[in-house]
Amino acid sequence: MPPHLTAADLDRSFGIANVARFEPGNDGLTRLVISTPQADAEIYLHGAHVTEFRPRGQDEVLFLSDKSLFAKGKAIRGGVPIIFPWFGPRAGHPESPQHGLVRTADWSVESLDQLETGEVLVVFRYESNADTRAIWPHDFVLRYWVQVGDYLDLCLEVHNTGVDAFDFEEALHTYLAVSDVRRVEVVGLSNTEYLDKTDGMLRKQQDGQPIRITGETDRVYLNTQSACTAKDPDEGRIVMVEKQNSNATVLWNPWIAKAKAMADFGDEEWPAMLCIETCNVAENAVQLDPKAKHEMRVSITAERLAV
Ligand code: BG6
Repeated sequence: MPPHLTAADLDRSFGIANVARFEPGNDGLTRLVISTPQADAEIYLHGAHVTEFRPRGQDEVLFLSDKSLFAKGKAIRGGVPIIFPWFGPRAGHPESPQHGLVRTADWSVESLDQLETGEVLVVFRYESNADTRAIWPHDFVLRYWVQVGDYLDLCLEVHNTGVDAFDFEEALHTYLAVSDVRRVEVVGLSNTEYLDKTDGMLRKQQDGQPIRITGETDRVYLNTQSACTAKDPDEGRIVMVEKQNSNATVLWNPWIAKAKAMADFGDEEWPAMLCIETCNVAENAVQLDPKAKHEMRVSITAERLAV
């Protein structure tokens, strides 16, 4: 599908009356708006970027910065950016964009359906082209399944369509909305080793206590397949991040100084978010043989805390 299709074209081809429509979103970028008895959600084609997920009767689960840009070539700040094929700065290539090639790419829509059980399933696609090959010389097809029910399921499939094996990193860089990050408890990473990006990538060991965020936090937890929960007492809910085929988890909050340094993030927004990122990065990067496929999944659910 050529990327120049308008929201109206996409709506004619894929829209589902009263359930899912394509429309011009912020700054004219095309978005898919889903509304069912189970949830509301929004997804931009720019980066196949989920920006909103609100189970019916609940507050927004994903953080989206008021200062986010919505522009060609710029990443959206919040929601779920897709990171591929490298995470953070590309080793040995300072000229390459941070966090890979696809979070600002124009993805196409492969299908959009409502399941008999009411969930909406949309499949996005992006494949290597002259622009990506000029930076990263490999052939690939990405497919991304987004299923919106009273949960949000995301699955990123990487298909090596070239003739050589390649290594890649990937992340579903999920920004969770929280009431006050200082009051949140994260469980699921006990006794796990992590690289502390705020401390020269020192390798450290998490203790057995729930994690509290008390300063800038930028950690790559390695060799962990565990689900994580974020308990948010002020919001009265617990958010669960359960994953498959992901061997690393990144925890990130920029705190005060980093927040001020980011032009597309409000100075005062840092208490309202926490990234729990489902990844395969660093020593958990994936090697993919020619013709092989790899799928990484995450399921996000939010439940009320018992009072
Ligand atoms: C996190 C990284 O995943 O993303 C951080 O671990 C980084 O180091 C953050 O600062 C945000 O990155 P960006 O490119 O969206 O500003």
